[in-house]
Amino acid sequence: MRILVGVTGGIAAFKAVALVRQLTEQGHDVKVVPTENALRFVGKATLEALSKNSVDSDLYTDVADVKHIELGQSADLVIVAPATASFIARTAAGIADDLLSNIILATPAPIIIAPAMHTEMWENAATQANVATILARGIHMIEPTEGRLTGEDSGKGRMAEPEDIVEAALALTLPQDLAGKHVVVTAGGTREPIDPVRFIGNASSGKQGTEIAKEAARRGAKVTLIGANFAATGAFEFVPVVTAQDLSNAINARLDADVFIMAAAISDYRVEVPSATKLKKSVVGERLELSLVLNEDLLARISAKKNAGQVVVGFAAETETEPSRLETLARLKLEQKGCDILVANDVTGGKVFNEDTTSVLLLAKTSATVAVTGTKRQVANRLIDAIVLAAAQ
Ligand code: CTP
Repeated sequence: MRILVGVTGGIAAFKAVALVRQLTEQGHDVKVVPTENALRFVGKATLEALSKNSVDSDLYTDVADVKHIELGQSADLVIVAPATASFIARTAAGIADDLLSNIILATPAPIIIAPAMHTEMWENAATQANVATILARGIHMIEPTEGRLTGEDSGKGRMAEPEDIVEAALALTLPQDLAGKHVVVTAGGTREPIDPVRFIGNASSGKQGTEIAKEAARRGAKVTLIGANFAATGAFEFVPVVTAQDLSNAINARLDADVFIMAAAISDYRVEVPSATKLKKSVVGERLELSLVLNEDLLARISAKKNAGQVVVGFAAETETEPSRLETLARLKLEQKGCDILVANDVTGGKVFNEDTTSVLLLAKTSATVAVTGTKRQVANRLIDAIVLAAAQ
């Protein structure tokens, strides 16, 4: 993607260096357009070296190329970081007095700004009115955060971190193909109590489910992440649960959702009568026998009761290293559970748990199996593609 990074004149300009580096590392073609004042804070040579492109702030060089129009039109995305109070004011007024402000008026690409300034300047009525004006015109913003400012002072006005700016900016270019849908994701591993301090649990970390929840939100969905025994934050409702019964209750309150993604490792069994007091060796003796009873299979129940518009995704963690046998097992589970899509992986030796990368098979009732290897985010992205396809069928 061709990304134009505008840098305006504030101390946070030094963080634009990290932003440019992250974008080029992700394979994007980055063109940096600083203002004259930005170049007082960060060197042109640094920006050229990291963007691997020439850096130009002057409207009046190469005039024959009409470069403000060319740069504006060739960009797929425009990020202005940091955006000063003055830049925001000039943008609100439609003033075009340097290369960057001309591009802002000329580009059809989505624009996102990351303001940075002192708290007093951010809270000033003029700045707030200017921000409201440009947001109303469709410019996007990643809010400044609270934290250390230029000197010893701190407060709201610190520019968002480069990785958060990258995340928010790239999300603008994603298709909003889940807009209007409510997606419920379960993740993590349930715990079934034995006594007040002990439980039967499993190694699921909740990472894959969290990535799926984030990706669904980026694609426009309203998302509920039901998390068993981990915590996560993001653009979703987070519902913490402990046991399979808690998880069931949380799902039952949301049965009218459009998509259910059952990534949680839900205990198949629970202790029939958990002890109300801590079990003591001195009392239990040589052998401890636990009577376990089957938990309801939520995936099977939701799949059986779903209406025509709903999409249900199941997961299968198998210990099968041979891909074709894994696929056979997974097809069988897809049929038995009655879900629309099944994500299967081999967890032999406990690999995958708590890792950032994984390798899965994506099976759908109506299409061929796809093997995906990559980060859990990449897997999430491919899964959402499959869900969008299934919802359209
Ligand atoms: N699941 C569920 N309710 C349960 C147990 C599992 O909804 N009580 C869901 C999981 O969230 C996951 C899928 O079922 O989507 C995983 O099934 P799995 O536990 O692998 O299958 P089982 O039917 O338990 O089969 P196996 O005998 O292979 O363990």
